[in-house]
Amino acid sequence: MAESLGVAVIGAGMAGKAHAAAYRTASALYSPVLPPVRLVSIGDVNAGFGSLAARRFGYERHDTSWQAIAEADDIDVVSVVIANSLHREVVEGLLAAGKHVLCEKPLSDSLADARAMAEAARDAASIARIGFTFRRTPASPTSGT
Ligand SMILES: NC(=O)c1ccc[n+]([C@@H]2O[C@H](COP(=O)([O-])OP(=O)(O)OC[C@H]3O[C@@H](n4cnc5c(N)ncnc54)[C@H](O)[C@@H]3O)[C@@H](O)[C@H]2O)c1
Repeated sequence: MAESLGVAVIGAGMAGKAHAAAYRTASALYSPVLPPVRLVSIGDVNAGFGSLAARRFGYERHDTSWQAIAEADDIDVVSVVIANSLHREVVEGLLAAGKHVLCEKPLSDSLADARAMAEAARDAASIARIGFTFRRTPASPTSGT
């Protein structure tokens, strides 16, 4: 098991803040199965949003480009929580950089982009998943499937 996992969230909007908050509680909820989670960076093109969210949720820093997060050696796992039409470029770049990726739903705003992303995920050495909110919610009729 990894000694720790460095996480980043790209997008400090409504849903990005939910991801930022969730990573804060993940260690407590899933210990001892999950290694300690390091809250590393919030990425947002709006520096004010990124910096405010990093302070509010206790992240070490903020970045204004996804490329900075892709290049960062201290980040292992990245949530992509920006507009659907922007997912493909960012997800493909992160997977190419070896990051594990959790992309918000819907995967994209076009079938062609979604298919290309699925192919990139299949070819990647890292883990790629989509944020289907209810999949692991106990009350959901689909839980356990
Ligand atoms: N799972 C769910 O229930 C759920 C709920 C809401 C939203 N979502 C999904 O989450 C994603 C984001 O939605 P939202 O409502 O949080 O949007 P939002 O508009 O509130 O936030 C998006 C943020 O991304 C930033 N941004 C824009 N371009 C960027 C870039 N290139 N790099 C970094 N940051 C950039 C914006 O400045 C903004 O702060 C969408 O895919 C949406 O479908 C999922």
